[in-house]
Amino acid sequence: MGKTYDVKNLSLVKAGVKRIEWARRAMPVVRSIEDRFRRERPLKGVRIGACLHVTTETANLMRALAAGGADVRLCASNPLSTQDDVAAALVKEFGVPVFAIRGEDRKTYYSHLRSALGHNPQITMDDGADLVSELHRRDDGRVILGGTEETTTGVIRLRSMAQKGVLKFPVISVNDADTKHLFDNRYGTGQSTLDGIIRSTNTLIAGQTIVICGYGWCGRGVAERARGMGAHVMVVEVDAVRALQAVMDGFRVAPIGKAALVGDVFITVTGDINVIRREHFLKMKDGVILANSGHFNVEIDIPGLEKLSRSTQTLRDNVVEYVLRNGKRVVLLGEGRLVNLAAAEGHPAMVMDMSFANQALSAEYLTQHGRRLKRQVYPVPKEIDEAIARLKLKTMGVSIDRLTPEQKTYLASWEMGT
Ligand code: ADE
Repeated sequence: MGKTYDVKNLSLVKAGVKRIEWARRAMPVVRSIEDRFRRERPLKGVRIGACLHVTTETANLMRALAAGGADVRLCASNPLSTQDDVAAALVKEFGVPVFAIRGEDRKTYYSHLRSALGHNPQITMDDGADLVSELHRRDDGRVILGGTEETTTGVIRLRSMAQKGVLKFPVISVNDADTKHLFDNRYGTGQSTLDGIIRSTNTLIAGQTIVICGYGWCGRGVAERARGMGAHVMVVEVDAVRALQAVMDGFRVAPIGKAALVGDVFITVTGDINVIRREHFLKMKDGVILANSGHFNVEIDIPGLEKLSRSTQTLRDNVVEYVLRNGKRVVLLGEGRLVNLAAAEGHPAMVMDMSFANQALSAEYLTQHGRRLKRQVYPVPKEIDEAIARLKLKTMGVSIDRLTPEQKTYLASWEMGT
């Protein structure tokens, strides 16, 4: 029989519980869902396999699902994002089987993934679609009610599977909910990416030229925050509309070949591969800092960087310097993995509150309606998205107006003119 959990050190439990409780204070929406789940038990007996970053915020989602009656197992969605004290606390204090150790190698990462699927889940909860991919690779005839997906990269993978007709069960794209990507991707990634860069390097942002590759919601968030701290921000894009938005948001836009010559710090958030490559490393100034905040560690061509280098040395936690054969030094943070999770704590709880409220309510929705859904990627139902926005506002003490009957009629009619 396989292990019932696999974490680094159970004696970290106390520290983990403290930090989980701290995050919980900033997650009132998830807390209120947990309270209702405890009363109503809508997930009673439902087996959920979750592959998420093992953080204090994820721990609070796990508690909510367990309160709803779910039998949940958790593994990491990135080998470097696990908070080992949180993993210990989930196992020992909250009774959630966790299979995740910070820094685990590729083999362990995939064996943990399989362990999270070891109780034959009816629902999968992914951040990057690794669980869904693993299930499709195996093709062992399991019946899955449905899945949920947290992030842009995962949704892209799933849409491609659905388009090719190979997706075997419905998946709800949590990422596409307004209460997710408009806040988590923008403000969460924006703040936590700079947090990771600052914690690992203690560099001054003000006055530096920061090159941001990718101007989706995450890129925008990073660009806004970097500007707010006094950086000269340059944006690199391939999409003409997004590039235009960056220009009109007041940023300089340039191809990476030009930006490489002037940047001090480079941040990739594109979701694509080899965005910064050999020819760019060679042009860079001495001592530049490279960081990635996209889901996979493929945006910076690290094998290419290694080939160009004559030596490497670790300068600080999460900071490795590559000395190129041309004598210039390039500093890579967090092994090119998500810098916000590898070198900081990921998005703050206040924003994950909405993302994970979407996860919890989508799991409930799949339990009730999954059997009637097709093998497609579905949005989070609008009512759920709106309910989360209303709840979040309420917990922030913000009230808003309602349409008057006259305004409703006006909006619904085409006859009423000026
Ligand atoms: N993704 C980004 N930040 C996160 C966090 N704090 N917890 C879980 N997943 C995340």
